[in-house]
Amino acid sequence: MGSFSSWILFVIAAWTVTSTGVVVSAQKCEVEPNLRFNCHPEIIGFGRENCLKRGCCWDERQSATGGQEEFKSRLNTYDGKVPQCYYSSDFPSYTVTKQQEKPFGYTLDLSRKSQSYYPKDVMQLTADVFFETKTRLHVKIYDSEKPRYEVPLDTPKVSTKAKSTDYSVNFGETPFSVQVKRQATDTTLIDTSVNPAFIFSDQFLQISTKLPSTFIYGLGEHRHSLLLDLNWTSFTFWNHDMSPAPLVNLYGSHPFYMMLEEDGNSHGVFLLNSNGMDVILQPTPALTWRTIGGILDFYIFLGPSPDEVIQQYSEVIGLPFMPPYWSLGFHLCRYGYNSANKTREIWQSMLKAGIPQDVQWNDIDSMEGHRDFTYNQETFTELPALVEEIHQHNQYYITMLDPGIPNDQPKGSYRPYEDGIELGVFVKDYQGNPFVGRVWPGRTVFPDYTNPVTVKWWQQETQRFHDKIKFDGLWNDMNEPSNFVYGAAGFGCPIDSPYDYPPYVPNVFGFVLGDRTICPSAQHNLSLHYDVHNIYGLTEVIATYNALKNIRGKRPFVLSRSTFAGSGKYTAHWTGDNLSSWVDLYYSIPAILNLNMFGIPLVGVDICGFEGDTTEELCQRWQQVGAFYPFSRNHNAIGSKDQHPTVFSQDMQASTRKALLIRYTLLPYLYTLFHRANAGGKTVARPLFFEYPSDRSTYSIDKQFLWGEALLITPVLQLSVVQVTGYFPKDTWYDYYTGMSIESEGQQITLDAPLDKINLHIRGGYIIPTQQPNVTTFAARKNPFGLIVALSGEGIANGSIYWDDGDSLDTFKNKKHNAIKFTAAKNSITCRVVHDGYSEEPMVLGSVRVLGVANKPETVTANSKAVPFSYDVVNKVLKLDVLSLLLTKPFMIAWT
Ligand code: NOJ
Repeated sequence: MGSFSSWILFVIAAWTVTSTGVVVSAQKCEVEPNLRFNCHPEIIGFGRENCLKRGCCWDERQSATGGQEEFKSRLNTYDGKVPQCYYSSDFPSYTVTKQQEKPFGYTLDLSRKSQSYYPKDVMQLTADVFFETKTRLHVKIYDSEKPRYEVPLDTPKVSTKAKSTDYSVNFGETPFSVQVKRQATDTTLIDTSVNPAFIFSDQFLQISTKLPSTFIYGLGEHRHSLLLDLNWTSFTFWNHDMSPAPLVNLYGSHPFYMMLEEDGNSHGVFLLNSNGMDVILQPTPALTWRTIGGILDFYIFLGPSPDEVIQQYSEVIGLPFMPPYWSLGFHLCRYGYNSANKTREIWQSMLKAGIPQDVQWNDIDSMEGHRDFTYNQETFTELPALVEEIHQHNQYYITMLDPGIPNDQPKGSYRPYEDGIELGVFVKDYQGNPFVGRVWPGRTVFPDYTNPVTVKWWQQETQRFHDKIKFDGLWNDMNEPSNFVYGAAGFGCPIDSPYDYPPYVPNVFGFVLGDRTICPSAQHNLSLHYDVHNIYGLTEVIATYNALKNIRGKRPFVLSRSTFAGSGKYTAHWTGDNLSSWVDLYYSIPAILNLNMFGIPLVGVDICGFEGDTTEELCQRWQQVGAFYPFSRNHNAIGSKDQHPTVFSQDMQASTRKALLIRYTLLPYLYTLFHRANAGGKTVARPLFFEYPSDRSTYSIDKQFLWGEALLITPVLQLSVVQVTGYFPKDTWYDYYTGMSIESEGQQITLDAPLDKINLHIRGGYIIPTQQPNVTTFAARKNPFGLIVALSGEGIANGSIYWDDGDSLDTFKNKKHNAIKFTAAKNSITCRVVHDGYSEEPMVLGSVRVLGVANKPETVTANSKAVPFSYDVVNKVLKLDVLSLLLTKPFMIAWT
């Protein structure tokens, strides 16, 4: 203690104020504004004196404002502007005391001599540097002496160095820093020397890096444009139940970013840490990771293409689950049907209107007193029969399970609670009693899914419920976990706890960590809630996924509101309580693109908006965009105006039907994309820059998106317009409806967009498998397939289809699938069967459209036999409509 205070005295004594107002010392404070890193982010205690006490530099001048300044009133931190209190360039930190070569790479010993200004510095650290694969570097920095909490993600364990790597790594010794370079271009991807203040104390861990460009993406779940803003922005990770709004912590945490480098290469960085966290971006360009617990466990992915970055990231966090085919159909839901009869009436109206739908949902209003595992005995008595009817129409039913379990029911009346208490499955408060909060059913306790006993109990309760209601999938809502009160009901969180009130509080909405959730001091089997809060939703969906798998013996479908890195292995996601507004319609696109980058490709937002009343036009446009969300569900809040498709005019219904029928036509393509996500971590919905990383005009596009490589969606996101302008990268593009080609030089193109149309374009060079649609996937799967062959300028195209029964487990692993490749070249299309393991439904090819056939052919043959065809002279489309080829047998179609 003696040496610490005398050091502070020395620093204060050494300060002088220059004529410019910057306080300087023997330390170096002449740091240009963009290179300043915040030394006093806390609003509480902010001021010159405390800044100097921290041994930092103080800029007397009114600091520049910008970034998040306007949100100051609800922030904990001053990160939204040039910091007034900042680190000197010689701020004390760790030095490398030993560096050893290891079979996996290097181990470094780091130590610091003086304390930082946060309590309990870890004075001795170990940094293990794993050269895991050619494109993946893993840097793990932890306490050399005492184990600390680590996220229990099942990551690859690598003990030997990759033979060659695309990166090189260098270390600075005094102070310790890391530089990671891309060898091929010499670009520095990571350079932590940009901020000397690397801090690793018990509850404040901070490290910064210089960024190689300003093109940065990811860091979700947040509401933001796709391209992130480096103008002093901060992103907070602390899962929170809150209607999506800019700059606040939302339902999920994905501490991952992806960057495009100046030359169009890309890389990604993942910090595997589930504690509360802020990530700060500043125009240097630089990024600061600031977390309040755990360890610093980084993964760096070298790509070099954006989609490869995501594939490499998925190898670490887990590949996305393979969805059941039916779950790619249209879903209809609402909170507040209020009865089984009303649910039936609306579901039947969809059948009658011939609007595609695969899944009908219910929300908490179907429960008895909002209690999980029950259904309302007055309003939903007919639910079991309704579910039966839905099944008879080969459709599916999904209902909800929230984590909050009521604890105040009369004895003997609510078994899930009573069994749970006996088994000790609930999260405990700081004193070891079940933690009691308040959610929909009233006072509730919360299952601790990090306890294996809880997982068994959850499975058993789910099974009992399934014995009554034959649901096909489950919806895990409120699993941030949400709590309607601050901390424990009637109590809050203990004020003297360093977990509820840590030395540094990230920039969370509500100012305190316990806002709308469990107290961080609450205890789980694995660790404190402080550590596992951000993975609560993940642990719940693992339990739900496995329960469903065991109960149904089929592919599980779970929809979760809260997510963490790795959730995509078990769950789909929707972006929570959006509003019925045009702005929310726009934000849906960056949201689904981000979630795809986070390894959760099955994602959508509430079509037509959840809160508030929609209008017919908004809902019509939204149904069009929503037909292209990977997960397509219209969901509405209680009390809002009806918004199911059949409540609107005949015109609106026709337009929704049309958009959804296109979706159903394209499902074989979508399903193939999901297979590629499941087998190799590829994205399903992706931004244009993923496919055109050297075209800078694509970098900020988030009003258009692609399905895979080949389908470009250019929706209307504005009121009262019948035209839309989109960017078409340099390529050949074909109008989905007419087949007319556009040769783009990389330009903005204005398209007609009447109310009943969503613009879709197919990229030259690709072959898209289709199927004649119907109103359910069950019926559509019986129809003949089609191919859309979009020729490149050179007359070439490629594509594939993955097919199986759509519902069984592990069909790919067990080889019970078909994999078929198509190639078009030199006026012919060939079909090659790569794998033929599924023969229950014959795959008949009924039609082919070849786009970009310059001249009318004289003859067209299939396997050398002439077949009828037609040719559209205006749009240059060759159409074959009466084929009956088997896709599971090689064939060749040729035209001369
Ligand atoms: C909040 C969810 O975000 C919303 O979708 C749901 O309808 C309500 N909870 C009621 O369960």
